[in-house]
Amino acid sequence: MELERVKTGIPGFDNLIQGGIPKGFNVLLLGQPGAGKTIFGLQYLVNGAMAGENGIYVSLDSSNEMVKSQGRVFGWDVDGLEKSGKINFMKIRLDKPKIYLFDMLRDAIKKSNATRLVFDSLADFEINIDQFIVPIDYNLKKEAEEEDARNRTQLEGAGSSPAGDQMHARVFYKGHSERRTSYFAINEFGNLGTTNMLITEEQMGEEQSSIDGISEYICDGVLRFSIERIAKEATRSLTIKKMRNTDHTLDSMVFKITQKGIHLSGDMAFQGSKVSGIT
Ligand SMILES: Nc1ncnc2c1ncn2[C@@H]1O[C@H](COP(=O)(O)OP(=O)(O)OP(=O)(O)O)[C@@H](O)[C@H]1O
Ligand SMILES: [Mg+2]
Repeated sequence: MELERVKTGIPGFDNLIQGGIPKGFNVLLLGQPGAGKTIFGLQYLVNGAMAGENGIYVSLDSSNEMVKSQGRVFGWDVDGLEKSGKINFMKIRLDKPKIYLFDMLRDAIKKSNATRLVFDSLADFEINIDQFIVPIDYNLKKEAEEEDARNRTQLEGAGSSPAGDQMHARVFYKGHSERRTSYFAINEFGNLGTTNMLITEEQMGEEQSSIDGISEYICDGVLRFSIERIAKEATRSLTIKKMRNTDHTLDSMVFKITQKGIHLSGDMAFQGSKVSGIT
């Protein structure tokens, strides 16, 4: 049976992924600051809303006003779409000790009949991770506990540890459990029933890898946005690094941000010049 696909409506993009994103997928938008992730996410919601599919833009860092003003620049009727209930701009306040993110999202999805969701961003979620209450999937929890137990045995078996090593072990566990929370969270996004774009940032000095280092493995799709400077010219490019169940190119594709938003020209970026530099 053919997979049901969700059209982003972004010029030049859907034809690269067999017509659209498989329904219910979590797609990670990965990239440097200013690379175009917010615009891409917003354009996906605006196009959906105009085609009768409601959406939610969830923002942790930027105000709703900031997100909407970016849309207005492109002439998108974000205010009208908000008024008619087609796009819900949802700023998550971070000044609370306990944020029940997924209860809030489920509520909002139900109220607004949304089928599309953009989460901006996982990076901000991870920075504030101690405040978020994330439900734990029993099967995943069991797996994670088993892994924890294995790690603990390894550490304990490593011989007598001086104070420095013990400290290292604590740091390791803390980091480990934070990564686990991100893991549960992404899994939970996948249970919402919406087709999601989850925005994140690249690790400093470690291009092409998300800050948490695991979301690209868990998400069903990964789109990497970048700005490359070749000779004197800077080019924006989009690479489909992953899209499960989909035949797609691995080449980086040129895109532009025009007065109407993001537009893919259909040209390949770099034409292999980057690759030849390795030899
Ligand atoms: N009207 C416009 N015309 C052309 N380019 C624009 C226009 N508006 C914004 N841009 C470009 O888009 C960039 C911002 O894109 P966007 O906000 O989507 O980036 P981002 O990847 O979300 O960045 P961050 O990680 O900082 O949130 C600006 O830095 C600018 O280069
Ligand atoms: Mg952004």
